[in-house]
Amino acid sequence: MICLHLFFIIKLNKCVRGRWHSAGTFDVETKTGGPFGTIRHGDELAHEANSGLDIAVGLLEPIKAQFPILTYADFYQLAGVVAVEITGGPEIPFHPGRPDKSEPPPEGRLPQATQGPAHLRDVFYRMGLCDKDIVALSGGHTLGRCHKERSGFEGPWTSNPLIFDNSYFRQDLLSTEAHNAMHNQKQLAYAFSSIHSN
Ligand code: HEM
Repeated sequence: MICLHLFFIIKLNKCVRGRWHSAGTFDVETKTGGPFGTIRHGDELAHEANSGLDIAVGLLEPIKAQFPILTYADFYQLAGVVAVEITGGPEIPFHPGRPDKSEPPPEGRLPQATQGPAHLRDVFYRMGLCDKDIVALSGGHTLGRCHKERSGFEGPWTSNPLIFDNSYFRQDLLSTEAHNAMHNQKQLAYAFSSIHSN
């Protein structure tokens, strides 16, 4: 039983990432992309940035089948909310009402880990978000890890990648290979943290 619970917690990281990879395709100008259930389709799962998210989609499918009243769009967002809560994060108010859309967003809307702050700003501003949002959302890496076969990077960002806490923002920036992998992004996060705290 404990093993089963642990297994699901490990996989929940992917729900958080999946939730973000749906929402993170939003374009505030054209109102296209966003969290509308399209990530379950092969076209979108095949986007390079979504490597490994087929695991989360597959795990969620039998649960979704039990709740046909929910749209996929709401269900995936709810899975992310539950994942944050179960791993020790805050309770997040959930507002249902998202419709399922059929058209997946174009590839290339999600941020790349090898690009610098200007790229991150381009991507997040396109969603209608600001620098503070980039800093706060980057803290999602308190959960989970990199997989060499998926992103080319390896390892977790924090010492306990199954617990949602503030350690992503507190730890030594370059202490593991994974931290190196996320160097640009974390530098940005820390830079903005200090800007906002001054
Ligand atoms: C700021 C720009 C971001 C970049 C460049 C980025 C990049 C990455 C990369 C390269 C990985 C490793 C993928 C793998 O090898 O399996 C990853 C994993 C992950 N990301 Fe991000 N990410 C960003 C923002 C976010 C945000 C906003 C969230 C959530 C709020 C998030 C949540 C996660 C989680 C939970 C994982 C671990 C998944 C797992 O364990 O399988 N990321 N990200």
